[in-house]
Parts: sequence; structure tokens; C-alpha cells
Amino acid sequence: MSNNEPNPVHFGPSGPLKGAVTVPGDKSISHRALILSALAVGKSEITGLLEGEDVLATAQALRAMGAKIEKSGDKWTVHGVGVGGLMQPETAIDLGNSGTSARLLMGLVASHDISVTFTGDASLSMRPMGRVIEPLSRMGADFTARETHDGKECLPLTVRGLCPAVPMEYRLPVASAQVKSAILLAGLNTPGVTKVIEPVPTRDHSETMLQGFGAKISVETDAKGCRKISLTGEVDLQPQDIDVPGDPSSAAFPVVAALLVPGSDITVENVGINATRAGLFDVLKQMGGNIAFKNKRTVGGEPVADLHVKHSELTGMEIPADIVPSMIDEFPILFVAAAMAKGTTTTSGLHELRVKESDRLSQMAKGLTSIGVNVTEREDGLIIVGSGGQPLRGGNSSSIETALDHRIAMSFAVAGLNCQSGATVDDMNPTETSFPGFGNLLQRLTDS
Ligand code: S3P
Repeated sequence: MSNNEPNPVHFGPSGPLKGAVTVPGDKSISHRALILSALAVGKSEITGLLEGEDVLATAQALRAMGAKIEKSGDKWTVHGVGVGGLMQPETAIDLGNSGTSARLLMGLVASHDISVTFTGDASLSMRPMGRVIEPLSRMGADFTARETHDGKECLPLTVRGLCPAVPMEYRLPVASAQVKSAILLAGLNTPGVTKVIEPVPTRDHSETMLQGFGAKISVETDAKGCRKISLTGEVDLQPQDIDVPGDPSSAAFPVVAALLVPGSDITVENVGINATRAGLFDVLKQMGGNIAFKNKRTVGGEPVADLHVKHSELTGMEIPADIVPSMIDEFPILFVAAAMAKGTTTTSGLHELRVKESDRLSQMAKGLTSIGVNVTEREDGLIIVGSGGQPLRGGNSSSIETALDHRIAMSFAVAGLNCQSGATVDDMNPTETSFPGFGNLLQRLTDS
């Protein structure tokens, strides 16, 4: 959301990464902690909240709809308005770069008798919203969205909620935790039972946290792994104290950096290792990565560990399609690991990467090619022939285009550490959306 000038940064070859660090709080859990606290009756307290621009956009939106949200020291306090208690905001709500805010808040508004206009930055304004508009319209909400030349429904959009909304059973056509969560949030203020059927499991933080807040929710999983989530609406939520664990999607960057740079030995402490999120760590271990989960424990209902990582010789592999949802945000950094592995890494089933903060398949293929990596771009994945641990050539005079995408920026920062001539990332500002302090953390690990 910052209107700062672009901040180009050159990342050059580095010595080993050493030391122990923590990464900021989990982005998905932070959004949900604020949203559910805003709907509870009374005061919730949150520690470890990610104070990145995306989560702050959610906080600001909830304030505009009546929740009282304050910060004191590192503790956030939320005074909820109760299920159904959101109020009409006075102006349009700007969600910056945050797709999660947009889709979850559209669900929230859909079953309230209010009308809200959402806007976003250039990247968010190109992302498809039809996937939430379609189910939420079935529940009775009304949408007016900008249509792109190719017929996509995008921000800016206005949602007029319906109260009472109509409960429904919905089978997800795309594996998306955001769509699932939008429908469940709409279901909270809807009479009767709202059901979501998820043929391919996606991150389950919404279900776990709804349970923690006292919602009436049940999950049945059939023999094929298809999940049916049933939520009874119009039930009060109880305020909670929430401790948000470190984000595995942020930990992914120092973890891969340590695996790739010879002599590295680091610990990333307090990282969430929920099975619906930890696919990258499984894949890296299968590629030969030395990653140990130490001190496993449960924090706020989520499994957490300290990740001890040492430099390793990686071997390329074919990434199985069924692991994709559990590492959907980690493909950009996996591609960097693949570029340094021995042999070929093949990925497929990644159509969704084309509609993230940027077209991540295209941006990664272009950027990796520009630093000398052998990449083939297919419609649904990349094929990468790795260097077998040899440093990559590195960038020429032009910088790598991040297209307002935080994960592209951080992936090429890590790549730069492994390039003979380094790599210049055209703008590191987008990292503020999910990983404030990323540059300092990398510096601290490489300086020690
Ligand atoms: C998220 C779900 C995923 C993920 C995003 C966060 C969430 O998106 O890519 O960064 O918090 O629910 P999709 O639901 O589009 O897969």
C-alpha cells in the first residue's frame, strides 16, 4: 500500500549463513485472528501478529466496519462487534496488495446488511474475484465488479450483503483456502448449516480457529481425502487469546538460502509446521536437504518447531501434484532451490500460480533465465535443469522484474547469494506485505 519509489537492491555472493532467527507471524493465521476476534463478543488478545501491510489492511478494514483494534507493545487487542454486528463503512476500503483480505472480507460482508466497496493496488486489481463472487451470490449477496477485457471480475468491486443470507452446500471447483474461508465466514451470520466440500485439502486454519472461537463446525473426511465442512450459523463466538506462530512461507526463504550457500548452519525458531502448509520442507528433504524439526510443540492449536538447517547438496525431482496445495506459495523459492540442484526438477498442476500476486510461472521463468538458469516454461509448471551446486552466472545490467510480488522479490534475493555476479531485484518494497525486516534478517544471517 506504500506509494514509495521502487527500491532496487543488489544481492551478491555471500559467505555461509549462521545463527538463530525468528520470522514474522503467519500471514494466514494473522488475518483470521483479526477477523474472528472482530466477530467475537468481547475482548481478544493477539501476540505474534504479522505486522505486514496485508494484515494491517485487514485490521483497517475491520476498524472501518466497527471493530475496535489497538496495539500496545507487541500485543494486539480486538473488541469484537459480535456475529452480524459489522457496520456500514463510510468510505471505500483499500486493501493494497492483499488477496486474502479481499476474498475473506467479501465473505464476511456477504451476510451483513451493508454495502462495501473494495479497491486494491495494480496487482490485486488484476486478480480474479469471480471464484468468490459466484458462491457468495448464491447465498444472496449482490456484486458489482469491474470486468477486464478478457471477462474476469476484478476489483474495484462493491458487495451488497444480504441478511439473512441463504445457507448452501458448495463444492470447491478450485483448491482454494480463500474461497473456502470466504464461504465459511459468510455462513457465520447465516441461519442454518453452510457446507463446503473440498475435494483437495487446503490450509485448514479457518476450521481450526473457528473451532477455537466456539463456532459450531464439523469436518468429515472420506476415504479419498475429500473433506466436508459443516458450519451452523448465528452462533456467538467467544473471544480468545491467540499466539500466532512464525510463518512457514516466510521461513522458506532463509531455509533455502542456508541449504544453498556452502558452510551454512542456521536455526529458524518457532515456525508453523501444519501439514497443510509444510509441503516445501518435505520436498526439500526428499531432494536431500538437511532440515531437522527440533522442539516440536503446539502453539494456539497449531504444530510448531524450530528448524535446524545445514547446507546440503540437493538433487532435482518430479514434484508430485498432490503436494501442490500444501506448498502453493513456496514454488518461487523452490524454483531457486531447483536451479542449484543436481539434475532436473519438473513441476506440473500449477495453473493457480498464474493468478497469484503476479503470474509467478512467467516471472520466475523470465528472472531465472536472465541469471543463466536452464528453464522451460509450460502452461502449468516449470522444468528446471539445475547447476549441481555450481554458482549461477548472475544478472547482466538489467534488474529482475518483481511485478509487485513479494515472493518473487525474496526468491531472487536468495538466488543472488548464489550468483557469480549477483542479482539486482528491481523493487524490494513489496516484501513489506508479508515479511517486514526480510533484508535485515538476511544480512544478519550472512554477517554472522
Ligand atoms: C491463503 C490461501 C492461498 C495462498 C494465500 C493465502 C489463505 O490462496 O496462496 O497466500 O490465507 O487462505 P488460495 O486460496 O488462492 O489458494
